[in-house]
Amino acid sequence: MHSPSILLFFFITIIIFFIYSLKCEARDSINVRNPLNGSGDTLVSAGKRFQLGFFTPEGNNQKNNNRYVGIWYYNSSPRTVVWVANRDKPLSDSCGVFGLDVDGNLKVWCSNNGTVFPITSLEKSSTFNRTLQLLDSGNLILFDGTNRDVWQSFEVPTDTFLPGMKMKDNIKLTSWIGPSDPGTGNFTFQADQGVYTIQNRSTVHWKSGEPGTLSMYNNDLPYVVAQMLSDSDKGLDQKRNGSSNRFIPFPNYTRVWDYNNSRLLMNSSGHIQYYYFSRGNWSLLWSEPENRCSVYDACGKFATCNVKNERICQCLPGFRPASDGCERESSKICNAHQSTDQKDVFLNVSLMNVVGRATQFNRAEKEADCKAECLSNCKCEAYSYTGVNTGDRETGNAAAKCWIWTSDLANLRQGYADVRLRLSVRVPSSAIGDSFVFH
Ligand SMILES: *[C@@H]1O[C@H](CO)[C@@H](O)[C@H](O)[C@H]1NC(C)=O
Ligand SMILES: *[C@@H]1O[C@H](CO)[C@@H](O)[C@H](O)[C@H]1NC(C)=O
Ligand SMILES: *[C@@H]1O[C@H](CO)[C@@H](O)[C@H](O)[C@H]1NC(C)=O
Ligand SMILES: *[C@@H]1O[C@H](CO)[C@@H](O)[C@H](O)[C@H]1NC(C)=O
Ligand SMILES: *[C@@H]1O[C@H](CO)[C@@H](O)[C@H](O)[C@H]1NC(C)=O
Ligand SMILES: *[C@@H]1O[C@H](CO)[C@@H](O)[C@H](O)[C@H]1NC(C)=O
Ligand SMILES: *[C@@H]1O[C@H](CO)[C@@H](O)[C@H](O)[C@H]1NC(C)=O
Ligand SMILES: *[C@@H]1O[C@H](CO)[C@@H](O)[C@H](O)[C@H]1NC(C)=O
Ligand SMILES: *[C@@H]1O[C@H](CO)[C@@H](O)[C@H](O)[C@H]1NC(C)=O
Ligand SMILES: *[C@@H]1O[C@H](CO)[C@@H](O)[C@H](O)[C@H]1NC(C)=O
Ligand SMILES: *[C@@H]1O[C@H](CO)[C@@H](O)[C@H](O)[C@H]1NC(C)=O
Repeated sequence: MHSPSILLFFFITIIIFFIYSLKCEARDSINVRNPLNGSGDTLVSAGKRFQLGFFTPEGNNQKNNNRYVGIWYYNSSPRTVVWVANRDKPLSDSCGVFGLDVDGNLKVWCSNNGTVFPITSLEKSSTFNRTLQLLDSGNLILFDGTNRDVWQSFEVPTDTFLPGMKMKDNIKLTSWIGPSDPGTGNFTFQADQGVYTIQNRSTVHWKSGEPGTLSMYNNDLPYVVAQMLSDSDKGLDQKRNGSSNRFIPFPNYTRVWDYNNSRLLMNSSGHIQYYYFSRGNWSLLWSEPENRCSVYDACGKFATCNVKNERICQCLPGFRPASDGCERESSKICNAHQSTDQKDVFLNVSLMNVVGRATQFNRAEKEADCKAECLSNCKCEAYSYTGVNTGDRETGNAAAKCWIWTSDLANLRQGYADVRLRLSVRVPSSAIGDSFVFH
């Protein structure tokens, strides 16, 4: 008697269940009508590489149970988060919703009370057609009705650089506060005139090199990392291989897609780290500052830094400690009426790195010419005679063998296997004891 209605009920249930399960099928995009709820709802990129949803970082104070919207590697365990939408505006209970508001902007809001945290601040969209899509590259893109992108997460990174991002001069990675707090931390990583720097708030903490002069001595960026940051999809620039000083057994990539399993992280204690995923694990292949002497100008001016010494910072011979490093002891160099036995002399210092204003002196045929040039200029603090032509290896353009420093010497690093520079520091002969051999 009741069988038809029971059957109907049965079918309706099946249909509802079917529709429901379709709806639950992982989606990679949303629009204004179907935001992400905060109860386990996520976006998954088409190739199941990345996932977006609400999360609470491991170790985050359980009482707060702060909830963030983030992107992480799909199924990563522990969860490897690469981007956070509301790093400084967490929600504190499960009321969260993430989606497109009617004005076309991305927002995180709380369904119970009126709290709304805007993620984007784009011009009001006249259409309801904007679509948000999570791609396999890890990029979250907001498309207008016409498939034109109006916003991408790759242009507002958190602490992670993913292959395909472009490290333009206005883009920076900013560390988390700590491993369980995605809030804006003190350290940033950014490009500055072709050199990459880590800043501790407004202080330079590390630099990949110095722009301009003597750059061949100053490139601390491994080739693979430089290549990934430069986002070259043209293929490996073989010629530039010479720029990396230290050999690290990196995988040898040729195109940007080969970097799929790589990421750079500006970590919360101030290190830039390069991770590579293989055989089920992320391995850390490189990080800087590598040691206390890799920190930019760790010892101040006219002081050398050597991690092998008990006191890592030491003044150059003829210099004494001062507030910002070291200063010349008593007597000045370039005494106008020098008698022959009081002429300035030079101390050889083997260095891995030095910073300062160096100018090329092209007319030096031999070291004596370089030395004479330095002695003839009272501002000259040091010279370096390389003995080999430091011209561009590829172009063959000749550059000087002789470099003259006329500024304070800073960031002097010693004690490395790869001595890249022999610096001859000018000191008055009176500053040198008999124990020093000099010429
Ligand atoms: C949120 O989404 C999940 C997964 O799609 C679903 O199971 C759950 O019922 C939704 N919750 C609410 C309150 O809409
Ligand atoms: C609303 O709820 C959110 C999430 O719990 C919370 O962060 C926010 O402070 C609340 N706002 C108000 C006005 O109560
Ligand atoms: C959405 O886009 C379609 C074409 O892509 C357009 O015809 C339609 O008018 C748009 N809807 C609104 C509400 O603007
Ligand atoms: C950031 O720096 C400020 C002052 O320089 C310090 O008080 C704070 O603890 C630092 N934060 C972190 C996460 O290191
Ligand atoms: C960052 O700077 C703060 C002071 O501004 C200092 O206390 C802290 O030690 C620095 N952090 C590192 C890792 O050097
Ligand atoms: C790049 O340099 C490394 C180390 O100097 C060397 O082993 C490697 O063969 C070079 N690769 C290419 C493609 O030249
Ligand atoms: C690097 O490239 C060479 C030549 O293409 C190849 O023979 C070698 O196996 C590669 N090494 C690694 C570690 O992939
Ligand atoms: C890297 O990702 C891109 C886009 O997702 C894909 O086309 C390419 O095949 C991937 N490359 C490798 C080596 O997996
Ligand atoms: C940051 O990186 C350095 C160097 O790899 C590591 O020693 C340190 O533990 C890292 N900090 C955190 C909070 O993971
Ligand atoms: C990956 O890492 C885990 C934990 O660190 C370790 O147990 C496992 O052996 C590693 N797998 C491989 C293939 O190295
Ligand atoms: C400094 O370098 C010059 C040039 O190579 C060399 O002749 C001289 O012996 C060195 N001086 C010392 C003290 O090592």
